[in-house]
Amino acid sequence: MEQTKLKELFDSLTLDEKIGQLVQLNGNFFDSNEKIATGPVVKIGIDKEKIYQTGSILNTMGAKELKDIQDRYLQKNDKKIPMLFMADVINGFKTIFPIPLGLGCTFNPKLVKKTAEVTAKEAAVSGLHITFSPMVDMVRDARWGRVMESYGEDNYLNCEYAKAMVEGYQGNGDKYSTILSCVKHFAGYGAPVAGREYNTVELGERSLRQDYLPSYKAAVDAGCELVMTSFNTIDGIPVTANDWLLRDILRKDWGFKGVVISDHSAVKELVPHGVAKDGKEAAKLAIEAGCDIDMMTATYSNHLSSLVESGQLDMKYIDEAAMRVLELKNKLGLFENPYRGADEKLEKEVVLCEEFRKFAREVVSQTCVLLKNDSILPLTKNQKVAVVGPYAFNKNLSGMWSINVDSEKVVTIYDGLKKQANENCVTFAKGSPLLDDDHLFESFGYAKNIGELVSDNPVEECQKAVQVASQADIVIVAIGEHPHQSGEGGSRGEITLPRVQVELLKEMKKLGKSIVTLIFSGRPLALSEVSQYSDAMLQCWFPGTEGGDGIADIIYGKVNPSARLSMTFPYSVGQCPIYYNEMSTGRPAKGSTHSKRFTSRYIDIPNEPTYCFGYGLTYSEFKYSPIELDSHILTPNSSIKASVVVENISEQEGTETVQLYIRDLVGSVVRPIKELKGVQKVLLKPNESQKVEFIITEDMLRFVRKDMKFASEEGDFEIFIGKDSSTENKDTFVLKK
Ligand code: GLC
Repeated sequence: MEQTKLKELFDSLTLDEKIGQLVQLNGNFFDSNEKIATGPVVKIGIDKEKIYQTGSILNTMGAKELKDIQDRYLQKNDKKIPMLFMADVINGFKTIFPIPLGLGCTFNPKLVKKTAEVTAKEAAVSGLHITFSPMVDMVRDARWGRVMESYGEDNYLNCEYAKAMVEGYQGNGDKYSTILSCVKHFAGYGAPVAGREYNTVELGERSLRQDYLPSYKAAVDAGCELVMTSFNTIDGIPVTANDWLLRDILRKDWGFKGVVISDHSAVKELVPHGVAKDGKEAAKLAIEAGCDIDMMTATYSNHLSSLVESGQLDMKYIDEAAMRVLELKNKLGLFENPYRGADEKLEKEVVLCEEFRKFAREVVSQTCVLLKNDSILPLTKNQKVAVVGPYAFNKNLSGMWSINVDSEKVVTIYDGLKKQANENCVTFAKGSPLLDDDHLFESFGYAKNIGELVSDNPVEECQKAVQVASQADIVIVAIGEHPHQSGEGGSRGEITLPRVQVELLKEMKKLGKSIVTLIFSGRPLALSEVSQYSDAMLQCWFPGTEGGDGIADIIYGKVNPSARLSMTFPYSVGQCPIYYNEMSTGRPAKGSTHSKRFTSRYIDIPNEPTYCFGYGLTYSEFKYSPIELDSHILTPNSSIKASVVVENISEQEGTETVQLYIRDLVGSVVRPIKELKGVQKVLLKPNESQKVEFIITEDMLRFVRKDMKFASEEGDFEIFIGKDSSTENKDTFVLKK
């Protein structure tokens, strides 16, 4: 629609009709069965006659379903303004990819971008317009459940992934193959005190700007059309009412022109936060701060008009928000085609097609991180394998956010192994339930085939597994968290595996067989005990639809693993939050002049994590030469070429994930002991060498200085190039301005 026509439409709207555009409900308000609709209407407290002014709905999917809803809605909407259809399509639509924390371990933004492209294709023909993704919250605390939805603890990678995902979703704007992206959760949601869900976030402005804001900005710079406000406070002000974040930073500094949508109920939650005494005050605070859409409450619907009519709210806030929503609909072409890409025929052809499943299988094998391998893997197809554990034959492999998964299509570990091994070489026994007990465990009502949580007779189950395993050469123990032990509302005070599963692993170890342990989790776990009973250990995250096949590809050597940890695996929960790019402190545990007692350390656990950021094994072995710099002096107008020769000293072709880190030795503020600044994945044949080069430029050295400017400072730097963040393969250079 021409801008002039859009303006005419806008000018024709009543106050209530403009406010309606700022309300988001879920799809069951528009069920064909009116009776169902009245239930949620009463529950949320919205006037029934305002329902058909709603601007958007969330989390209803399916081409036919959404076309029907749009039809019913447009029949009743006076100004024939189509609704927007949004949903949480986080790691795949129907072809479910590994959880984002697993995707983060690929160290491969191009691959991750392609997962977004595939997701958009399935979602677009299924009628969706917008996804509440990517979630780019930086996370350093494994206790927080939503770490599973993040890409990990590193800013450089998170910015790369943010860009990749937005570009992957939004592509060229084609209605049958792209959807719009809503980056979330702006801002700082990943740093709740004590790792406790929805808790306060205490970040200084420098850390917020230096560590937490860049990934959202990367999404905005990549052109994401929406931003979702987070539940948390920043410096005592809930983000949904925080005009410094929503207007000064997001719109003035970053130039964001799209729509800001609250997280679920976050507008209404300004009351329990204690910054609004009632819904009316909450509505005023949020709209004035710059929150355009109120997700899933009636706060805007019930209060904005009276605020304007009583002169307590300037109409301009409503006008600007409503116009942004109309412009978004116009960008999607909804006025000309309210169905956009919804197409039942295409939906049948595209969703879960062989091509996408094949790609998902490839992605699985790029996300699993080989943590240990005492020359056990890869297996040969004639080896007798017993696969035991609650994840041995379990279709619930997709993680907490795969709300649209078709579990029947999920390939289990047992299925995947059996397909690749010789006939009758793979047996199965469950061996243990998922949980020790479920008295604290609250799972979602909507989760399908969540699987039984506890067992009436764990001893008998374990004995059966012992009997099956005793007949095998190799025992694969598939264990892990329940999918709902991570994700939203999934914060844990412990980060170990359920005890009943560790007991199963110990029983298997007693058999004297080689043990391959597969770990399924939505977070880094404390695995030092599990590692003691394992000869090989593979971190599988929640791998999604193609889990069984992708993991079997690694087990039988079709794929040589190359994934690396995008998040530190703590020694124990006591270390949380722990991350590789920490500051030195005045008394570093290593290199202090003080006695050991009086340095930055614990007296009962090590400082070091079990597995560091960037860590991961392959079936090959790589050797690094010392670093070569073509200059040791850098200026703002020059660059330094840093190179190493990487040699594959094994007989197995493999991909090495070469990592570049830089340390700013002295700054106007303290600086991290290492920061990832580049990654290159190189495929090397047996005994092949390759020179790997990184170009260092001044902009890579910029940070939030003492004067709060984002710029570099002259001085000495260390450069590291190696296989993970623990590398000491280093050299030095100087920045001169
Ligand atoms: C949830 C989540 C958010 C999601 C939204 C809609 O509470 O915090 O990530 O997009 O509500 O489901």
